[in-house]
Amino acid sequence: MKGTITIPSDKSISHRAVMFASLAHGASTIKNFSNGQDPLSTLQICQALGIQTEFKDRNLIIRGGKLQAPAADLDCGNSGTTMRLMAGILAGQNFNSTLTGDSSLSKRPMKRIIEPLSLMGAVVNGTDGRPPLQIIGAPLQGIHYICPLASAQVKSAVLLAGLHAKGKTTFTEPYLSRNHTEIMLKYMGAAINTNGAAVSIEPSELKPRTIEIPGDISSAAYFIAAGLIVPDSEIILKNVGLNPTRTGILDVVKKMGGSVEILDKRTVSGEQVGDLRVKTSDLTGCTIEGELIPRLIDELPVIAVMATQANGQTIIKDAQDLRNKESDRIKATVTELKKLGAGVNETEDGFIIKGKTKLTGGVEVQTYHDHRLAMSLYVANLVCERPIKINGFEWVNISFPEFEQLFDTFG
Ligand code: S3P
Repeated sequence: MKGTITIPSDKSISHRAVMFASLAHGASTIKNFSNGQDPLSTLQICQALGIQTEFKDRNLIIRGGKLQAPAADLDCGNSGTTMRLMAGILAGQNFNSTLTGDSSLSKRPMKRIIEPLSLMGAVVNGTDGRPPLQIIGAPLQGIHYICPLASAQVKSAVLLAGLHAKGKTTFTEPYLSRNHTEIMLKYMGAAINTNGAAVSIEPSELKPRTIEIPGDISSAAYFIAAGLIVPDSEIILKNVGLNPTRTGILDVVKKMGGSVEILDKRTVSGEQVGDLRVKTSDLTGCTIEGELIPRLIDELPVIAVMATQANGQTIIKDAQDLRNKESDRIKATVTELKKLGAGVNETEDGFIIKGKTKLTGGVEVQTYHDHRLAMSLYVANLVCERPIKINGFEWVNISFPEFEQLFDTFG
């Protein structure tokens, strides 16, 4: 692989830009909004809540203000971020609403947000802690919530509820998860303060702003892994978000002896951004655990692929919550990589990969309705002896519709 590509828009930041701009009174301009299906689900929900939006010169204009009661259920599609963050926004409104999702989202746990929101006075009803969520708008009270999980979705739901609650809301997590909510709320004028893995917010009016969204390091991860393991590669990935709460993959690549160089670091709308140069490298296995996990949670399936091509053992632990993503990503990754000939075994909270293995391929694999499985298996295919058939590859559209086209530019 040789050449240069620009990494498309960050999914996490795109969700937040639309939601927060919808809450700010006046017109915000969002530059480089993602065209993944998940952020589009968020956009459609904001429209259903009465917010005027338009695409103008490739920018998304959001005319935010007071949200209106929706005429129908709000469909979050496949997107956990949409459901959990919107629940925090809707809990304190003076109307009722229902959030629904597709078959994958309908199986995902929502107790993690129902519990703190209920402590704030919210009325959020799930079915056995799962979607759909029926939300009865109610006045909210600030709390100090100590979360057992490092989760940006739970943190954001609580902070967004705190934006409209009486008094101060504080959220503490065991390790710092992605902090895009904190950065963007501050950028839009909220009274928010962070102290390590604790963050506090007081009721605030958001101001409309221009928000430029960087490229998604979780999308770049597939090119980083491919560039490192495909022989004789040297590629440049432009405009990659380098927020330190997301760069766990770069720390792991360094630990494994991989060559990824950061070029031209800058700050855009409060977020760090840079270009990356990736070269084929001899990799060595390593252990990935603890505070690193939330900083690379979505990259673990493709890191597992990379580890099949590293010498020695890679151990991934403390990643139990991977079982609650778009699929059970521990089971799915292990089952499908085994089919390709990888030496990988499942543990309760992660996996153990023995490398370096020649992947044989020549089989059909499944994606479990999970975009990250689809893209990880595509990368695995690049180093398989025989091509594989990926069933359900279209799930890439959830976060990265340009994925295949960008890989094609490398021939
Ligand atoms: C996300 C947070 C992560 C991540 C998800 C997107 C976000 O989930 O897995 O894809 O945008 O806040 P958790 O923080 O709940 O682990």
